[in-house]
Amino acid sequence: MKVVHTIQELRDQLRGQLQVAFVPTMGNLHSAHLSLMKMARQHGDPVVASIFVNPLQFGPNEDFDRYPRTLADDIEKLERERDVYVLFAPDVNEMYPEPQSFQIQPPNDLGGILEGEFRPGFFTGVSTVVLKLFSCVQPRVAVFGKKDYQQLMVVRNMCRQFQLPVEILAHETVRDEDGLALSSRNRYLSADERAEAATLYATLQQMRQRVLQGDYTPQQLEHDASKALGDRGWDVDYFVLRRQRDLLEPTIDEIRAGEPLVILAAAKLGETRLIDNLEV
Ligand code: PAJ
Repeated sequence: MKVVHTIQELRDQLRGQLQVAFVPTMGNLHSAHLSLMKMARQHGDPVVASIFVNPLQFGPNEDFDRYPRTLADDIEKLERERDVYVLFAPDVNEMYPEPQSFQIQPPNDLGGILEGEFRPGFFTGVSTVVLKLFSCVQPRVAVFGKKDYQQLMVVRNMCRQFQLPVEILAHETVRDEDGLALSSRNRYLSADERAEAATLYATLQQMRQRVLQGDYTPQQLEHDASKALGDRGWDVDYFVLRRQRDLLEPTIDEIRAGEPLVILAAAKLGETRLIDNLEV
């Protein structure tokens, strides 16, 4: 695997490649990331991965400074798996040599809700860096995880609206045995919190069952799920039932007619904020 730190070296490595499959990450790689790279390998060649902790997508009170940076370990994992041909690991100055005054702002009805409501500017930061990374790598396909469901939709819609010649592929959420979705932020959890963390997925599953049984309003279901977590000491940002196609609220009639739905949740356990979702 070639590890490059500058855009120039990256372009030199990829000159003439038209079938690049790309997996952007912020590093601290776990088996979900590695699985995205396996998927990329089935859809393009060569596979390019990036590791870049993007300051633009962190709020002033978020964990940019303490976000885990483990490049040497990450390289070792990638070398072992042998799926990635080029790893692009730029520093902040390489990606932002001057203040990023042109930025991509997703529409409010997608980028301003849910994660965008609790993390103002988050999807502007994500969209802007993803566009820049696409412009550096020029992939034909790129793989994103469903774990970050709204991010996947923001990126897809951005590509569609700008006619970017990149196909966005979705990878299913990868979970630990107890159901907790793998995340770099799980390492912030204490042992007790880690045991409790599985409740988030269990609560999503319970709500999914009740949606399928069909005799409750979305408001009742959302309230019950939030309360169940709240009673166990979680601080719930949102726990909602939405339409898959645009993440807006479904009507009762749509639910009855079999509209594809997704339950999305974000909640804090101690200092650690976890997100997850489940399609219905
Ligand atoms: P990061 O959190 O490192 O995630 C990189 C990719 O891995 C994303 O597409 C994310 O959805 C996927 N991923 C993480 N955990 C997953 C899991 N348990 N199951 C399936 N996929 C999972 O998301 C980002 O980085 C950044 O916002 C980025 C897109 C790189 C832009 O900076």
